[in-house]
Amino acid sequence: MSYSVLFVCLGNICRSPMAEAVFRDLVRKEGLEGIVTVASAGTGDWHLGHPPHEGTRKVLDRRGISYAGQKARKLSAEDGTRYDLIVAMDSRNERDIRAALRPQQKAEIIRFLSILPEKGLADVPDPYYTGNFEEVFAMVEEGCRRLLATVKARLGGRA
Ligand code: 4NP
Repeated sequence: MSYSVLFVCLGNICRSPMAEAVFRDLVRKEGLEGIVTVASAGTGDWHLGHPPHEGTRKVLDRRGISYAGQKARKLSAEDGTRYDLIVAMDSRNERDIRAALRPQQKAEIIRFLSILPEKGLADVPDPYYTGNFEEVFAMVEEGCRRLLATVKARLGGRA
């Protein structure tokens, strides 16, 4: 019994590493470490090996959420066979993910804000450009909580 989730954004330094840290923290608090695997990647390769952006580190530090060991990496075609669920932070990311992966892959691909339809928004704004990391954190936290409930239901169904 296991489930794996990969969050993907453009640079893998702002939004997807934030979602990775927040979701892993929730997974740990639910006692699902070792059952639910969490990771992140970027569609671009500008920041390979870099830790999360200072703005992402600050919002996580403020809440005591760990991002230890997280380093930017680029999405690879193999990720489509490694993960059960790939979560794109915006619609451009979703397009790029679908183009990068092979058609017959195992992963289901969704857009992060499809989890929060009441927001009426397609894309998690990119704080690399807006500078508003708190706004993104609020969306990421709410979405991750709801995603965990879905994942738990799926795990229950498989058990
Ligand atoms: P992210 O934000 O996709 O949320 O990590 C960005 C980070 C870096 C760049 C663009 C977006 N960049 O162009 O370097």
